[in-house]
Amino acid sequence: MTEKHRRPIRSFVLRGGRLTVAQQHALDELWPHYGIGQHKTLLDFDDYFAQRADVIVEIGFGNGESTWRMAQQEPDKNFIGIEVHEPGVGHLLMALDAHGIDNVRIACEDAVPFFQHRIPPGSLAGVRIYFPDPWPKKRHHKRRLIQPEFVGQMAHCLASGGILHLATDWQPYAEHMLDVMEGSTAFRNLSASGDYSARPAWRPHTKYEKRGEGLGHKVRDMLFERS
Ligand SMILES: C[S@@+](CC[C@H](N)C(=O)[O-])C[C@H]1O[C@@H](n2cnc3c(N)ncnc32)[C@H](O)[C@@H]1O
Repeated sequence: MTEKHRRPIRSFVLRGGRLTVAQQHALDELWPHYGIGQHKTLLDFDDYFAQRADVIVEIGFGNGESTWRMAQQEPDKNFIGIEVHEPGVGHLLMALDAHGIDNVRIACEDAVPFFQHRIPPGSLAGVRIYFPDPWPKKRHHKRRLIQPEFVGQMAHCLASGGILHLATDWQPYAEHMLDVMEGSTAFRNLSASGDYSARPAWRPHTKYEKRGEGLGHKVRDMLFERS
């Protein structure tokens, strides 16, 4: 197989989307307002948000619980949530509508090409990635979202002083994240001990975090500043 035809390694597997009637209704009615269509051109944030403000991207928001809560807590910021799983997008659309939140826009696609093609260089104030799929088997480690190349891409899109916030309940992935981040000269670890940071009080509890805690896993937060 030639390089050109090799399928890209993805950090997700698209499960068969079982949309509830309410989620389908939300996608039909609310996507035109909150959705970011799939194109290959750079975004102009002014086309999407009513206010001009710092933009934070959350990757892999799952059911979107953290996304709408952060957007509600931080109304002076704009949020872009990226998630490939359609039912999760439907769930978040319903929550945004129910809580009257308008500083969130949603992309339903792979975050890796989205960062390559759509996010202007130096345009983000933050990237938040909470409980990304841990891919525990060694042969699947290459599927982990946090890889040197994607960290480089996020560095390219973050403004100087922008914050990359990672959290995981899977200790081997936390160590992998630290290794990858230590290999990047574009970021400074904000942890005084050079590894993990205290969980910021404002970070909402997520569905997968609760699941990890139920299994007795320790949750690790990591905060890095773009130099
Ligand atoms: C383990 S779940 C965590 C969801 C949520 N952040 C939470 O803590 O409950 C990881 C999520 O990331 C999404 N995901 C994985 N890779 C992605 C990618 N490249 N682009 C967008 N979403 C992705 C998956 O579909 C999944 O919903």
